Amino acid sequence: MTIIQLIFFIYLLLTRRTTASSSIQSFPAYLPNSINTPKILVYTYTDGFRHDSIPTAIEVLSREKVNWGLDFDFTENKTLFNEEYLKEYDALMFISVTGEAFGREGEKAFQKYLQSGGNFIGVHAATCALYNSSIYQATIGALFEWHPVIQEATFLREIVTHPATANLPDQWRFLKKGYFLGRGSVLLSAL
Ligand SMILES: *[C@@H]1O[C@H](CO)[C@@H](O)[C@H](O)[C@H]1NC(C)=O
Ligand SMILES: *[C@@H]1O[C@H](CO)[C@@H](O)[C@H](O)[C@H]1NC(C)=O
Repeated sequence: MTIIQLIFFIYLLLTRRTTASSSIQSFPAYLPNSINTPKILVYTYTDGFRHDSIPTAIEVLSREKVNWGLDFDFTENKTLFNEEYLKEYDALMFISVTGEAFGREGEKAFQKYLQSGGNFIGVHAATCALYNSSIYQATIGALFEWHPVIQEATFLREIVTHPATANLPDQWRFLKKGYFLGRGSVLLSAL
């Protein structure tokens, strides 16, 4: 995944309002610890495929956080998925999380967090987790099914009005490990 695609993907996820939170109109029920430095919990739990890039992601985020004006905490510990702990954070970033990344209680805490105005960022294999959690599916948009080998493909812009695709050409050809994702709304498709 190139940086542009990664940014695009993150942007795509950031611009989604989740179904899980869409019915809640009230003001966020919490205030982050620091107004000036957004605090992000980076979650890298895996119990399925473990991507080699996880240590690199942690290293880069740790190194760049000062430059970006962000504060990251890192964990793989799913028992931390509780309401009290999550509300310390302005955003949750799932990087290549796979498998049953939270249990029933964790799922409830996750939903409550989003409904209270929390933010979610899913990076790379974050679409490979929690296949049986409808809350997570509604949040991430679509789940990974399979990918073919890296190849050049033409990507078609399916929706022109979404901020993530508004500035793209109608047809865009590049080398990519394309992902087949089940369900969800489609902004780009491949020929
Ligand atoms: C996970 O967090 C809990 C609660 O803070 C702690 O008791 C436990 O030791 C942690 N597990 C690991 C593997 O760090
Ligand atoms: C998903 O399924 C697994 C076993 O199939 C189960 O252990 C787990 O609790 C389920 N998670 C949710 C969020 O339903």
